[in-house]
Amino acid sequence: MHRIVSKAQLSPNVTRLDLEAARIAQIRQPGQFVIVRRGPRAERIPLTIADANPTAGTISLVIQAVGKSTKELVALDVGDSIQDISGPLGMPTEVIEKGRALCVGGGVGTAVVHPIAQGLHAKGVHVTSVIGGRSKEWVIFEEELKRLGDVVVCTDDGSYGRKGFVTDAAKEILTAGGIDIVYAVGPVPMMRAIANLTKPFGVHTIVSLNPVMVDGTGMCGGCRVDVGGETKFACVDGPEFDGHKVDFDLLADRLSTYKIHEQEANTCQKDGTCRVGLTK
Ligand code: NAD
Ligand code: FES
Repeated sequence: MHRIVSKAQLSPNVTRLDLEAARIAQIRQPGQFVIVRRGPRAERIPLTIADANPTAGTISLVIQAVGKSTKELVALDVGDSIQDISGPLGMPTEVIEKGRALCVGGGVGTAVVHPIAQGLHAKGVHVTSVIGGRSKEWVIFEEELKRLGDVVVCTDDGSYGRKGFVTDAAKEILTAGGIDIVYAVGPVPMMRAIANLTKPFGVHTIVSLNPVMVDGTGMCGGCRVDVGGETKFACVDGPEFDGHKVDFDLLADRLSTYKIHEQEANTCQKDGTCRVGLTK
C-alpha cells in the first residue's frame, strides 16, 4: 500500500499527489512513469513521475481528472492509500550532457517536462522552459521550473505571461539560435506543432507520447505508435520518441477511440445510471 502524504490542487482539474514509494523514489530517472491501481478492481492508470524525494521515500504524481478513474483517484485524501504502484517503467529521457535545451510544456504536460528539466539541470545543461495554459489558473510547475532555469509563461487568453500558444514563444527562442535540443510534452496538436516548428531549424526534438496503456510491459500492444514507419510500444520503447518521426495522425486517431466510453463513464457518475458494458 502507498500512503498519500500530501495533496495539492494545481489547476482547476489537475491535482498533485505525493505518495510513499521508497524504492521508486530512489531509482526513477527522468522520463519514466508508473502504473497506478487504486484498489483491487480499479483501472490501471499510467502517470509520469513528476518529482521524487529519495530521502522522504516519496514520489509526486500529477493527475488530470478527465475520466471516472482519474476523478476517483483525485478524490483520495492525505492518509488514504493506493494499492499498487508499478514502476519505474519506460525508457529514461535522452539527456544531453552539455549545451542549451528548450523544454516546452503544454497544460498538464508541463508536469512531465519537470523531471526532464531536472535531469538536464543536473548535468549542467542550460534549460529554458516555455510553459503554457489556457489562462493563468491553468499554468502549473512555474516555480519548480524556475529553480532549474529560465521560464517563459504563455496563456492563450493573455491573462498571465505572454499571450498566445507555447509555439509562438518557442519560435522566437529558436530563431534567436543556440538551442541544441527541444523536449516537448502536451496535447498532441501542440507536440505536432512543435515538431513541425523545429524541423526547418534542424534541432533534434523529443516528444513524450501518451497513447492508451494497459499492462505497461510491452505485452498487450495497446500503446502502439508509429515512429519512422516502425511500430513501437510507448511503454517499453518510449514514452519519448523523435518528434520528427512520430505519426501524430495515427496517435490522435487511436486516442479518440475511447472518448465515447470516457463520456459515458462520466455520465454514470452524474446521474447514477450506466450504459451497457460499463460498471459504476
Ligand atoms: P490544453 O489543451 O489546455 O493546452 C495547453 C497548452 O498547449 C495551450 O495553452 C497552448 O500553449 C498549447 N497548445 C494547445 N494546442 C496547441 C496547438 N494546436 N498548437 C500549439 N500549441 C498548442 O492542454 P491540457 O488540457 O492541459 O492537456 C490535455 C491534453 O494533454 C490531453 O489530451 C492529454 O492526453 C495530453 N497529455 C499529454 C501528455 C504527454 O505525455 N504527452 C501528458 C499529459 C497530458
Ligand atoms: Fe501494453 Fe504497452 S501498455 S504493450
